[in-house]
Amino acid sequence: MKLFRSMRLFFSFILVLLLFSCKKDNEIVPVDNFAFRKPSYFPEPHYTFQNNALTRSRFNLGRDLFYDTILSLDNSISCASCHSQTHGFSDHNVAFSAGVNGTLGVRNSPALANLAWYPSFMWDGGVNNIETFSVAPITNPLEMHETIFQVVGKLNANAAYRSKFKAAYDVDSITDQKMLQALGQYMAMLISDDSKYDKYRKGTYTFTADENEGYSLFQSKCASCHTEPLFTDFSFRNNGLDAVFADLGRGLITQEAADNGKFRVPSLRNIQITYPYMHDGRFFTLSQVLDHYSTGIQSSSTLDQSLTSGIPLTADEKLKIIAFLKTLTDYTFMANPDLSEPVH
Ligand code: HEC
Ligand code: HEC
Repeated sequence: MKLFRSMRLFFSFILVLLLFSCKKDNEIVPVDNFAFRKPSYFPEPHYTFQNNALTRSRFNLGRDLFYDTILSLDNSISCASCHSQTHGFSDHNVAFSAGVNGTLGVRNSPALANLAWYPSFMWDGGVNNIETFSVAPITNPLEMHETIFQVVGKLNANAAYRSKFKAAYDVDSITDQKMLQALGQYMAMLISDDSKYDKYRKGTYTFTADENEGYSLFQSKCASCHTEPLFTDFSFRNNGLDAVFADLGRGLITQEAADNGKFRVPSLRNIQITYPYMHDGRFFTLSQVLDHYSTGIQSSSTLDQSLTSGIPLTADEKLKIIAFLKTLTDYTFMANPDLSEPVH
């Protein structure tokens, strides 16, 4: 009799839980102190988890997927293979990353940070939705070389994933939409806001004399494109790498000759760690990058107006700008256990 009563109590408890979980799906629900945070000096984010309310179980699921080779054709490659946390989610030290069967890509794997603020993705801005984004790397023959249909099939055949999707999205059968939404949650939570620069903005760090001078130089010579605090204005520009374009960049997307040779201004967060640099990974050091801006600008019809005479810099100015660029390294972000490969 006693057992019966406690079971009844148990089931009414479950019922109450279920009722409370029927919440609106477009609000951000913090779970165990787990919430999206917008640093006070950041603009409003582009992505707001609308119709994909942030929860711990969804984020964890997205993280599982990000680190799982199941997304690739021969189960050999995960997103993290080319986007490694300890290197600011870029691919360390290689111009082009190896996909399935070792096939090399044609562009450098970008560092990932603060993606919730991005209006578009890729060097050419070819994708503009964080929730559909992952279709691109999964299906790209140079990357994961898989089909969405096959991935969803593999996930549905996996009991552990079925129960994780059930817990996260209350679905009995895994769909491509839920998989992409979970990955979107993980990507949107890659927030980098704890570098020396950020601490300076928060008033908890004072720049050294070199960093401070570098900051002023950066603001007058670089920030028109690499705009604070995200260090990109998200525009597409030609920064004078080539006179003849091997990769048309933005022009491939818009089919406009006026966009040939233009690429999305990349963020410079964690730049010290994310070499090599540029869409084709041609420079391995920051000093090569500054030499390029100072004396290496190549003229072409789409070269950015502001760079026609280059950005003349003395050796001392280059060192100071580099000192400032190093304040953008966020070790907290690169070691954040929440973003690391899960241990099961
Ligand atoms: C084989 C290497 C490789 C794999 C695997 C890979 N990526 Fe990438 N990723 C790249 C490259 C290269 C680019 C740039 C492509 C371009 O601009 O054309 C990129 C671009 C991105 C971007 C855009 C960043 C920006 O600055 O616009 C995001 C986000 C991203 N990848 C996330 C992922 C996710 C999520 C996965 C797994 C589903 C994944 N990547 C798998 C190499 C890879
Ligand atoms: C006119 C706009 C513009 C200005 C001014 C500018 N940049 Fe850039 N920067 C770009 C673009 C566009 C790219 C990407 C080019 C590509 O890969 O094709 C880039 C790439 C870079 C990269 C490589 C980033 C990566 O992840 O590969 C670094 C580092 C960089 N710029 C630093 C600077 C510094 C330092 C200054 C000032 C001395 C500066 N930039 C001025 C537009 C600009």
